[in-house]
Amino acid sequence: MSTNDNPVLFGNGDELPSNHSSNPHINELISRRQVLAGGAALGALAFLGSALPGTAEAAEPAAKGLAAGPFKRRTKLPFSPVAITRADAITVPAGYQARAFIPWGTPITGGYPAYLDDGSNSAQDQAEQLGMHHDGMHFFPIDAQRGHGRKSDHGLLVLNHEYVDVPLLHPNGATVVAGKRSNAEEVRKEINAHGVSVVEIRRGLDGQWSVLPSARNRRVTGATPMQISGPARGHALLHTRYSPAGIATRGTLNNCANGFTPWGTYLTCEENWAGYFATRDSDLPRELSRYGLRSSSRYGWETLPGDEFERFDATRKSPAARDDYRNEPNHFGWIVEIDPFAPESVPIKRTALGRFAHEGLVFAPVKAGRPVVCYSGDDSQNEYIYKYVSRDHYRPGRSNGSLLDEGTLYVARFNASGQGEWLALDVHDKAFQRACSAAGVSFADQGEVLINTRLAADIAGATKMDRPEWGAVNPDNGEVYFTLTNNSSRSVPDAANPRPANAFGHIVRWRELSKNYGGRRFAWSLFMLAGPETDSVGPNGQPLNADNRLASPDGLWFDEEGRLWIQTDMSGSQLASGPFGNNQMLVADPRSGELKRFLVGPQGAEVTGITATPDFRTLFVNIQHPGEGSTPSNLLSAWPDGPGKRPRSATVIITREDGKRLL
Ligand code: FEO
Ligand code: CA
Ligand code: CA
Ligand code: CA
Repeated sequence: MSTNDNPVLFGNGDELPSNHSSNPHINELISRRQVLAGGAALGALAFLGSALPGTAEAAEPAAKGLAAGPFKRRTKLPFSPVAITRADAITVPAGYQARAFIPWGTPITGGYPAYLDDGSNSAQDQAEQLGMHHDGMHFFPIDAQRGHGRKSDHGLLVLNHEYVDVPLLHPNGATVVAGKRSNAEEVRKEINAHGVSVVEIRRGLDGQWSVLPSARNRRVTGATPMQISGPARGHALLHTRYSPAGIATRGTLNNCANGFTPWGTYLTCEENWAGYFATRDSDLPRELSRYGLRSSSRYGWETLPGDEFERFDATRKSPAARDDYRNEPNHFGWIVEIDPFAPESVPIKRTALGRFAHEGLVFAPVKAGRPVVCYSGDDSQNEYIYKYVSRDHYRPGRSNGSLLDEGTLYVARFNASGQGEWLALDVHDKAFQRACSAAGVSFADQGEVLINTRLAADIAGATKMDRPEWGAVNPDNGEVYFTLTNNSSRSVPDAANPRPANAFGHIVRWRELSKNYGGRRFAWSLFMLAGPETDSVGPNGQPLNADNRLASPDGLWFDEEGRLWIQTDMSGSQLASGPFGNNQMLVADPRSGELKRFLVGPQGAEVTGITATPDFRTLFVNIQHPGEGSTPSNLLSAWPDGPGKRPRSATVIITREDGKRLL
């Protein structure tokens, strides 16, 4: 039976909008003149102009106390822009080379089982091979065990595997009988193709990178045992048959973007996890309904018998939560910390960082004796941007993940004035208590707030955003940038999300108005509006052009010299027939407003995930789902293995032909 016989299974995985709150909407605050005078883009121009880059001030530290990197004079971006293309290849500028590396199925541990192109590798093989659909990624220099390595020819490459394409994972897609999965081996393989890979790699004298057979190589999968820490640990809403005390769980799923800590660990973020669960209950509790749990799941794992699969069925089946998996979905939506240098370590879900569709996590620069501050977006339509400020202070060489267990979670409100506020989601915060009373909502403790992060943010009055994706912090001046990829469901624009039915996406940025990022006020502006020439504003205030037009910005990363790398995740008709070609990666210079296309990916692929060696001579970029929609009998891309082979997600290694720094 083909997968098409059950329309419920194997959807694209994006979450349906589940924010039906009526929290204060800042569009009420925008003047009608701004919205109506010539359309949304014109209104936005004022905001772009208010903090236009390219001025001397733009390179100054954002606020007193914010770290500022060395400000070196720089001229134009030193490469020729890549033209838009629909070539089934990686295209980079003249003088650069790109090589595919560690595609899905590459053996890295255990018995090092060879990849078989017919989909016949076993579930156990998959647990010893690279997972499917590479996403967020970080290079840890081999001397970075305490956070500060400089080695550029040897390290651990750690990367997420966001989801699986069932038609290509198995010889002939999934076996589905009467709407149910019937082959446990297949489902185990799907679970094992999720998660994270840790791969020790080294650059040889010939300049080529290779995988080392190393005891550090590791697969973390959708079934790996994990601990739960922070305020929600042991909460009654986390009690399950697997962990009656609510302190342990199995696996991480739909790991999209990532983060890395100042103390040398990796953070993987659980994004569109709700679709992995099903519940037949009609009266869903708020911690399930606000996250869009449905009666059927994306892959149908819960339809198989056995505890390892039944946990994906959140239906209440027993008098006590300890005897079923009604709370299993509450074990997902977190950020998970993994120590890549300790292959036996148990990954930890850090609940103080909140529960939502976490895209990624990015740290503000750290300073000894100050709290650590980090930012995370909830990538679903009309969801929010969050900030976490640790209670304890950072101590170089001594701090660890416990800094992520005690602190304050805030959510952002973008006021039309160009100022913004961080609203605390904390049972001890007076303003939050007042907001809860006004809304007639109560939380027993901080654990319950965190399990219901979205509801808490609704009550606090956060600004609904156009799908927050990656964040990045400019080392020049401490400004925080976030991509807002698109939002077809926005009916009314507001200042920070200025286009209705936002098809092309934009990038917002802000400066904290307090010392060391920890305060409650910020000043924001729009960095750019993506889109075609007729509906866009570039970082220089001008419409985009053939050298830089893009849509659906997603991946975002600053190199050490303050250039912003932007990756796109267009899909559907935008990819097939838009004026943008295949998904791409561009480089912006916020100092000058220059923006140029650096790379175009193969057909049907998303470009996502980026990291570099400290010497900046090697850039790693991930290519996800080339030939999306392929089946074994209809391969829509030949990348990277050539005609007739199944397309595979892979990392791409980009270097300059002369071996020098990339830029
Ligand atoms: Fe998995 Fe928000 O991209
Ligand atoms: Ca993404
Ligand atoms: Ca995306
Ligand atoms: Ca993706």
